Amino acid sequence: MSAMLTIADLKERARRRVPKLFFDYADSGAWTESTYRANEEDFAKIKLRQRVLVDMTDRSLASTMIGEKVSMPVALAPTGLTGMQHADGEILAAQAAEEFGVPFTLSTMSICSLEDVAAATTKPFWFQLYVMRDRDFVTNLIARAKAAGCSALVLTLDLQILGQRHKDLRNGLSAPPRLTPKHLYQMATRPGWCLGMLGTKRRTFGNIVGHAKGADNMTSLSAWTHDQFDLRLSWKDVAWIKKQWGGKLILKGILDREDALMALKTGADAIIVSNHGGRQLDGAPSSIAVLPEIVDAVGDKIDVHLDGGIRSGQDVLKALALGAKGTHIGRPFLYGLGAGGKAGVTQALEIIRKELDITMALCGKRNIKDVGPELIYEGQPGTSKKVRRKS
Ligand code: FNR
Repeated sequence: MSAMLTIADLKERARRRVPKLFFDYADSGAWTESTYRANEEDFAKIKLRQRVLVDMTDRSLASTMIGEKVSMPVALAPTGLTGMQHADGEILAAQAAEEFGVPFTLSTMSICSLEDVAAATTKPFWFQLYVMRDRDFVTNLIARAKAAGCSALVLTLDLQILGQRHKDLRNGLSAPPRLTPKHLYQMATRPGWCLGMLGTKRRTFGNIVGHAKGADNMTSLSAWTHDQFDLRLSWKDVAWIKKQWGGKLILKGILDREDALMALKTGADAIIVSNHGGRQLDGAPSSIAVLPEIVDAVGDKIDVHLDGGIRSGQDVLKALALGAKGTHIGRPFLYGLGAGGKAGVTQALEIIRKELDITMALCGKRNIKDVGPELIYEGQPGTSKKVRRKS
């Protein structure tokens, strides 16, 4: 078995272990996937300044995110259907994150419920909220997140309407998944995945089924999710949610300077610069491209985090150098989960930790809290040398 050295290695192993419709669900973006690709490509364009002969002893990646201690500033982003990448996926990822000392965020659209994850972990995790039209359901969901001991609410703002992912339509992926002969064939060729699924009862949306009017079984749930995203969601609703929740609030899905200024007015604790991993507005800029202007607009008044396209510790360092106080990863941990369950998530985090640590050292820093814009190399290829001598 070849060594798993990079997130790309985990991705390839996940491709072989997870049925195609669920692997594709993770590895896809909206329409042409241009924003999905840009998230990664724009990180690669940024170059770091190498420094030498700087003391590299006693390095530390420990930091805080919204005041919570983290072993490195990398949280697991909320992802729907995570329990379909691997049986009990949300529980396993939450446990891996807890042991690693980084935050785990449970999605509203998770397979394992708030209560399932709370029962399987010992420290508070974060909960991501989609504001559904059924406000009684939302009120109840917030109360359940409080009862589960969640320490932050991550309110997602960029999904009033669903971006279209061609792969999901071609694969016939519905919410919740409905099985066709093609799907059964895809699953039969992934026996390890099937065995896991046979061993768990958690195969539908745990936060929703049995908790929402009109979503009592698989058939009605599909219609319910389709109807429930709220086209009228507004900044007033954010104020309402903030009041209902009463705790730490993170606004996710800000990509524009003006929206960042609006978010600031809500009194939230942090914003996440995000384009939903390229799954919503295809043609939007990458998250890393807009980070500097958003940091410039609000970074001295509110914590600015970033997600989208992080595939290595180098990417984390670049985001921090450009002003992010924390980062979130989606697909990297999903690939780890698909590749190897809880151990795979730990491996994804370990890969990023090691890369982050060595990269920071080679940039001449010992403490992640000291990382700033001085780490970014600003020249373009060929422009830093003024005179090219003839040999
Ligand atoms: C997501 N994302 C997401 N966001 C959210 O707020 N609620 C959700 O339920 C989901 N579901 C979801 C499923 C899958 C399969 C993916 C890949 C993503 C977006 C997620 O939180 C995050 O913004 C991106 O994943 C970040 O980009 P990377 O790290 O995947 O490149």
